[in-house]
Amino acid sequence: MAFTKKKTDAQELPEVLPVHVGFIMDGNGRWAKKRGMPRTYGHVQGALAFRKLLRYANEIGVKYMSFYAFSTENWKRPDDEVHALMDLMRKYLKEAYEHFDLRTRFVLLGDEDGFEADLRQQYIDIQKDTVDFERMTAGIAANYGSRNEITHACRELAQLVKEGKLEPEDITEDMISQHLYTKDMPDVDLMIRPGGEQRLSNFLLWQIAYSEFYVTDVLWPDFNRYDFLRALLSYQGRNRRFGGV
Ligand code: FPP
Repeated sequence: MAFTKKKTDAQELPEVLPVHVGFIMDGNGRWAKKRGMPRTYGHVQGALAFRKLLRYANEIGVKYMSFYAFSTENWKRPDDEVHALMDLMRKYLKEAYEHFDLRTRFVLLGDEDGFEADLRQQYIDIQKDTVDFERMTAGIAANYGSRNEITHACRELAQLVKEGKLEPEDITEDMISQHLYTKDMPDVDLMIRPGGEQRLSNFLLWQIAYSEFYVTDVLWPDFNRYDFLRALLSYQGRNRRFGGV
């Protein structure tokens, strides 16, 4: 499935809803610290926020969502925090089967080989079992790093060149997109970062070329449907020019 956006005059106006919304789910640790709780409790609350948001976005008709759940750099966190995050993924991947009414396809954005065997299998299964759902696609970025993803795509294309199946001058931007974890998803329209930090943290660098950004000080566990609506309203007030005038 290729998504080449046609750039017409009409695109000076934002589409009513962003087609693809990205979330950098930041602020769980600070949320917990403010309450004298361990960081892992912040992640538990963050996972609840994720679940609520997924359902709400599904209700209002957002077609693609990407959630940054665990980066390739997050392995450096203390063992108990890494384990807690892995267990939360196990829990929510299992629970996803109770939410098939959402008709949501789940896609792992990241390298599944980095996980323990059971979690790896859960990711394989949920992707297979939801592959035909067309109402919404939810990308879960786990063991994900954008530079790593782009490097991986370059290696695959280089291999095709080596095998004589592709000429270097025939490599196109679309081809690179098709070798990323997001190959079945369009570029990101709106990137939302709760927690107030103004950085991308190695998330979807290729896919955000023309994204609109929305940063809020609200911490991720507190991010609710009204915060999401505020982000959507902000998006609707933007003038997207895609490099034009
Ligand atoms: C960043 O906040 C958040 C993470 C590294 C983990 C995000 C994970 C979840 C919301 C839960 C699991 C996800 C799924 C899909 C079930 P931080 O800990 O860096 O916060 P801080 O900046 O306040 O320290």
